Amino acid sequence: MSHASLPAFAEMKRRRERIAMVTAYDAPSAQLAAAARIDIVLVGDSAAMTVFGHTSTTSITVDELLILARAVRRGAPDLPIVADLPFGSYQVSDDDAVANAVRFVKEAGIDAVKLEGAGPVLRRVGAIIDAGVPVMGHIGLTPQSVTLLGGYKPQGRTAAKANRLVEEARALERAGCFAIVLEAIPEPVAAGVTRALKIPTIGIGAGAACDGQVLVWHDLLGLTRGHVPRFVKQYADLGDQAIKALEAYVADVRAGRFPAPEHGYSMPPDERELFESALVAPLDDEE
Ligand code: KIV
Repeated sequence: MSHASLPAFAEMKRRRERIAMVTAYDAPSAQLAAAARIDIVLVGDSAAMTVFGHTSTTSITVDELLILARAVRRGAPDLPIVADLPFGSYQVSDDDAVANAVRFVKEAGIDAVKLEGAGPVLRRVGAIIDAGVPVMGHIGLTPQSVTLLGGYKPQGRTAAKANRLVEEARALERAGCFAIVLEAIPEPVAAGVTRALKIPTIGIGAGAACDGQVLVWHDLLGLTRGHVPRFVKQYADLGDQAIKALEAYVADVRAGRFPAPEHGYSMPPDERELFESALVAPLDDEE
């Protein structure tokens, strides 16, 4: 298990060093993220969509996300890793929230958990931190409340709502969060929130003024089929490349071009002869 220094992220903010965060859901991806010198990995509940094929984040369970978090930790033993607390795992009581957060530390070796919202969630944040688990906040568009918010819409577009976001961010900082994700809010609002805090803001659809950025693995690499939010920059077309590779494989199998001799194993010629002669022996016996 790593011993990530989460206060180092506030130091990075002070030094104006930008923080690069990405989601990951399995060991090979985590290994690639580490090789690319990503600063911090999020085992996001976006796995409900990217991995499990749901249409929103609310269906994923603690047990499901724990399996992915364990794999991510194995793939990136030295990276700071944050795991989302799934919908329903921290809303009911402080005890529930603490117990679930502790499971991510004990069973998956992650460094911190992320919770969505402020207001009533502040108590949970305090309880989890009191239990010794660092917390990342998440405000603006909070996908676990997408039904309440009326869809995947940008938030904080009036002065009053923008001020509320600043207040929520300040309250999360006071509650002890080490960083806060700002999702789908106008750039001037994200800039105001970022200026108001000592802890770093990590933006997704929140403009360039945030202290860091996060993107979903599948969006960043072009693995998402269908709609991609406007705030995504796609850095590769791995989905198209995968389809082309699979089509070539299908064509090779159907045409008998794969496997070729170099993909197989040989055996000593005398052993082969013995084996093949033995294959017809039972027929000889029957005669
Ligand atoms: O679940 C997730 O991937 C997230 C990011 C979009 C911040 O919460």
